[in-house]
Order: sequence, then structure tokens, then C-alpha cells
Amino acid sequence: MTQTWQLLAKHREQTADTSLLSLFDSADRFKSFSAEADGLLLDYSKTALDTTALSLLEHITTEVSLTDRISEMFNGEKINTTENRAVLHTALRAQTDEPITVDGENVLPAIRQTLQQMESYAEAVRCGSIHSNSGSKFTDVINIGIGGSDLGPAMATLALAPYHNGPRCHFVSNIDGAHIADTLKGLDPQTTLVIIASKSFTTIETMTNARTALDWLRAALGDDTSAHLAAVSTALDKTSTFGIAPERVFGFADWVGGRYSLWGPVGLPIMIAIGIENFRQFLNGAAAMDRHFRTAPFRNNLPMMLAATGIWHHNICGYDSRAILPYDQRLSRFPAYLQQLDMESNGKSVALDGSLLQRDSGPIVWGEPGTNGQHAFYQLLHQGTRVVPAEFLIAAQAHEADLAHHHQLLVANCLAQSEALMLGRSREDARVIAAKRGFSGDALEQMAGHLAFEGNRPSVTLAYPKLTPFVLGQLIALYEHRVFVEGVIWGLNSFDQWGVELGKELAVSLLPLVDGSAPAEAYSEKDGSTRGLLSKLTDPQS
Ligand code: F6P
Repeated sequence: MTQTWQLLAKHREQTADTSLLSLFDSADRFKSFSAEADGLLLDYSKTALDTTALSLLEHITTEVSLTDRISEMFNGEKINTTENRAVLHTALRAQTDEPITVDGENVLPAIRQTLQQMESYAEAVRCGSIHSNSGSKFTDVINIGIGGSDLGPAMATLALAPYHNGPRCHFVSNIDGAHIADTLKGLDPQTTLVIIASKSFTTIETMTNARTALDWLRAALGDDTSAHLAAVSTALDKTSTFGIAPERVFGFADWVGGRYSLWGPVGLPIMIAIGIENFRQFLNGAAAMDRHFRTAPFRNNLPMMLAATGIWHHNICGYDSRAILPYDQRLSRFPAYLQQLDMESNGKSVALDGSLLQRDSGPIVWGEPGTNGQHAFYQLLHQGTRVVPAEFLIAAQAHEADLAHHHQLLVANCLAQSEALMLGRSREDARVIAAKRGFSGDALEQMAGHLAFEGNRPSVTLAYPKLTPFVLGQLIALYEHRVFVEGVIWGLNSFDQWGVELGKELAVSLLPLVDGSAPAEAYSEKDGSTRGLLSKLTDPQS
């Protein structure tokens, strides 16, 4: 532990009793503890961070050479060391012509060419010049993918619903046959386009769903299904073996991580849904956040400040999860998207050099949109025994101009929650309420205990003008960079995901035991629990 970490921990000890509300005795608390980038505001004034804590956190970023690490990422150095790969999702949205090189080759021309190919294809699908076998316009698109090949496009397509003016987009990810069955049930194969999205083109869920979709198309169209299929992958040999025409395959390089891939071909369904111009705005929003991240000073830098709150809450205050609470129904998949972005990136126990990490890394990320969450788990946020730092997201303006009163209520609720978390309700106030409810004596005291809120619970709020493609691009890039900064501070590799492999291998080896094709001795090699469950699930009589 460096001296700076020790000082930070000591500072927390000394200030732990300070109430959040008292920080607002300083008239410029909000102004000094918020930052803005291109209209997107991050308010972190309702946290216990003060000037001392922030300067220590800034010092930590210097100790880990954050500025150099950022340059290395943007410049295409192979910072994903366990896979010997560059990390260049930022190049997919770069607005400059300055070369970005990997292994001596400028990657921008190929990125622009693929973007052009995506645009031509998306436009042709939208206007009907690329059409179904029968000559009709595609009415529906199914994206088959999982993880990064699903969560990003599914989340963004839903988020940008007001901009939809193309075919309807559906997303199938789960290997559970219920997912594809329920999706196909409402669709007509004659007018449905299937996009198979898989970076590796080997993921069992995606390949199984893809084959089921192909059978569904063939049953209606015969063997000539090629117009109804497209693929997004880095594995072009495998897409061709699957029988997808090369002009319908959208490739990308291995330096785009799955969970960072929606800016390129994995974003094809988004582009088909919202059109080229809106998709460009989406990229522009992310590029604006990239510029901000690279140039804004620490205290004004949104990703750095969001990371600072994260490190402070997780490592210094010991809060083990973070709740993502979008007061924006169309961001209802944003928490799930961030779960992969954050937990697959920073859910690691070893440092870059393979040694055990010296401190806790990635927290548990979870959430639901407000106001729904208020009627479910907010009880725990307000009165539970653990503190969960909350991250609120809210637009100044809704798309539904004719429903302005809904939006006013939404804003009031969002602000009320962060206020309630901070203020709490004192025992005294609780007694007054209990008395009004008719309690007295010991019963009043008991009731006051139930009615009191500890308060002093931290939150940050992201406020944006309206959920436009540009703003969505900003928000996603903000969280990507937050995850990056936290990963650099923890000293881990945010871009690999070895922890997902063992389960995949075991699933493959368990399949013969589930379908009954394994030899008898294979069962005895399994532990007692797995054997018991296998017998329960494969033999209905047991
Ligand atoms: O299982 C984890 C993972 O490898 C993710 O990192 C990835 O986004 C997902 O699976 C899907 O992978 P693919 O795009 O190769 O099908």
C-alpha cells in the first residue's frame, strides 16, 4: 500500500462522521463538486469526497501513470497483455484522420471501409433495395448474439426507440429455447432478416440459436436463405463455413473487445433501427467523451471523477456494490449492460503481472430503472444495514412532450431519492411522526426506531438534456473510461475475461451426461451434488 493510500484511509477515518449535508454549508459545494462535458453533468457533491480526498486520489492516478496508460490505449499499444492485443474500441468512433497503428498498420482505413459497408447495407435494408427472397421489404431483424454481441445493441436499440424508423429489431441471446421460440412465434420468415453476431463465431448459445433460426428460415423459404442472413464476426473463415455470403459479413479486428464492440459492426441492428445519421451522432457522442477524457483536468474530467467516487466508495469506505438507477425507462437495460462492462472487465483477483491484487477490485454492479426500483429494493438502500452508493441518471427533457407532467414527476422522484438518501430522518423527527400516528410511551420509542433513517448515504447523479443518440454515446463512453481508470488504479487487465472459460468447458463436458450418451463411469467422476442433480433433471422418475 503506498503512502497515498494510507493517507486516504486515514483521511476517511478522520472525516467519517461528517454529515453529507454539512458539506453544503459551503455555498459552492455543488459547483465545485460537479463537472460537465458537452452538456452532460456529473454531480458528485452528495458524496463525502472533499478537496483533500480528491487531491490524494489524483495523486494515486499519477502514481499509476494514468496519463501514459490512456495514451497507450488510444495509440493502439497491446495493453491487453494476456491476449497480446491492442484495445481500440475508441478507434471505431475516432473523428480524426491521424493514423492509429497496430503492428505498424494504420487501422483507420479498414474501420472507415467497414463503416461504409455497414451504412450501405443498413440503408439498403431500410429502404428495401436489399429485400427478402419474395421481394418484400424486411419488416423484422433478429440479432442473435450473447454478452457483448447482445447487451450493447439490445440496450442501445431500446434506449433510442424514439428514433426508430426502420424494421423492428429483436434480440435473442439465451440458449434456453424459450427465448428463440417466443421471438420467432410472432414473426414471418418471409420478411425477417437474421443477423448472427459473434466475435468468435463459436459461442455455443449463439451457434445453437443461429442453427434454429436457419432451420426456421429453411422451413419457409427452402434452401436459398442467403438474402435473409448476415453475420458480424472477427472469424471470417467460420462465417463462410456457416454459409453466409461474404458481402453480408461485417468483420472487425480482435482489438475490439466483445463488451466494447457496439461502435462497430456489432452495432448494425442499432444502425438499421435508427438510420445512418443517428448512428453517426451516437459515434460522435462517444468521440466527444473520448476527447474530454483525454484533455480535461482531473477535477473536471467526468470519467476520472466517476472513477474517483468508485474507488473512494469501494476501497476506502468499504461499500461493496454500486446501484445503477436510470430514471429513464428506455435505459432499462443499461444496468445489465454495465454489469458486463464493469464486472467482466474489473472482476479480477490478479494484477497485470499475475500476482494477487493487494486490494479489492470490481464491485457488484446492479440496478433497475426508477421509479420501479423505488417500489422494490429502495427500502434496503434507505434503511438496510449496508450502504450502497447509488448512481442516478436523469434527462432534463423527455421525448414525450405531450406527457410533460409524467416527466416532472420522474424528475421530482429522482431528486427526492438522492435527497432522502443523504438527509435521512432523525430520531427526533421520527418521534414526532410516531406521535402523530397515535403512539406514545415505549411504543412511540419503538416506532421511532422503525421510522428513523440513518441518512448520509452517498449518490452521484448524471443529468443530460435528453436521451439522444449523441447523449447515449457520451454515457456509454463515460462508463467505459470509468471502468478503464478503475482498472488502471487496481493494476489489473480490464480487457480479458478468463474467468468465464471454466464454466463453458464444463458445460461441454456435461452435455453427454445430460443427453445420456456418456459412458457410465463418467458419472462417477462427478461430485455428489452434480450427480444428484443430474439424476433429478434427467430422470423424471427419480
Ligand atoms: O463468455 C464471455 C464472452 O466471451 C464475452 O466476453 C463476449 O462478449 C461473449 O462471450 C460473446 O462472445 P462472442 O461474441 O464471441 O460470441
